[in-house]
Amino acid sequence: MRNGCGGNARAPGGEAVGNVAVLGARGLAGREVVRALREDPAFGWVAEGGRPEVDLTRPDTVEAFLRQAEPAVVINCAAMTDVDACEGRVAEAFALNAEGAGRAAVIAVRHGAVFIQLSSDYVFDGRKGAPYVEEDETMPLSVYGRSKLEGERLVEAAGGRWIIARTAWLFGPGRQNYVDRMLSAARETGEVRGATDQRGSPTSARDLALALAALIKARAMGLYHVVNAGGGSRYDVARTAVEAAGIAARVLPARRVDFPRRATTPEDSTLSAEKLRRDTGHTVRPWREAVAEYAAAAAGTGT
Ligand SMILES: NC(=O)c1ccc[n+]([C@@H]2O[C@H](COP(=O)([O-])OP(=O)(O)OC[C@H]3O[C@@H](n4cnc5c(N)ncnc54)[C@H](OP(=O)(O)O)[C@@H]3O)[C@@H](O)[C@H]2O)c1
Repeated sequence: MRNGCGGNARAPGGEAVGNVAVLGARGLAGREVVRALREDPAFGWVAEGGRPEVDLTRPDTVEAFLRQAEPAVVINCAAMTDVDACEGRVAEAFALNAEGAGRAAVIAVRHGAVFIQLSSDYVFDGRKGAPYVEEDETMPLSVYGRSKLEGERLVEAAGGRWIIARTAWLFGPGRQNYVDRMLSAARETGEVRGATDQRGSPTSARDLALALAALIKARAMGLYHVVNAGGGSRYDVARTAVEAAGIAARVLPARRVDFPRRATTPEDSTLSAEKLRRDTGHTVRPWREAVAEYAAAAAGTGT
């Protein structure tokens, strides 16, 4: 499982980071985190922990994994991410997104590792009317958002060194996401609709992974918003993706109410990643560029 650079590789002109253990390594973000860190010579052995062997609701499996991986950094990408399903499965959502994350952080502290927790834009109510910064007051509207916020609190309470990285509207290869769904619908029906009054920060899982690498290498600690630059609506995302994929389909504007769902979601949860840039010098590219690249690659046209 070693990445070929050994456990104490050194980045050119930089410091060795050591081994990294990734929890939830087979999800959308987890796969890209593993891939990005394995490609980066600053990191040692990047160990993948996924279900069923490493289950956050079974602390003994997390303990065994970390004992074997000997990580300097643990990155938790595991979560219950089906926002609507969380409404009906409250105990399960909290058991993983809150208690599971908190317990994993306590185990990481015992191993002397920095713990990185992925969190969500859904900790906000979306009524600010401007991009959210890290100091903004949280006010989740859904079970998912509440469970992620409680996860943040428990990770902080674990008493070790931590980074909480709030991200949003992820897309990338390997798991169905909003961009994939728009592209499939455009191809199959020749028409897609996207809400113009649902805004956020569409984020490439690959760009998230590169930004996490930058945070780790900068020895950053604390709360960060990690998203592609610029906000956009669901309609904007659909249109950008369909155009970049070269699909001759109509993209029609719609309203949030046209897509009824079980969970209440924030109307505008756009995040600002300015603190990330300030503290690490790392900038995350505009989301339009990332969506266009992903959609063009998915269509086989390349960019
Ligand atoms: N996706 C988004 O748009 C979005 C937006 C904001 C924040 N986030 C946050 O970003 C992080 C990564 O999300 P993602 O999109 O990569 O999620 P994802 O694709 O749903 O992956 C989550 C992973 O967690 C694993 N998992 C589920 N239950 C587990 C358990 N009990 N123990 C261990 N692993 C378990 C899943 O395993 P299986 O493969 O077995 O199901 C899956 O591999 C999460 O913290 C999420 O809250 C995501």
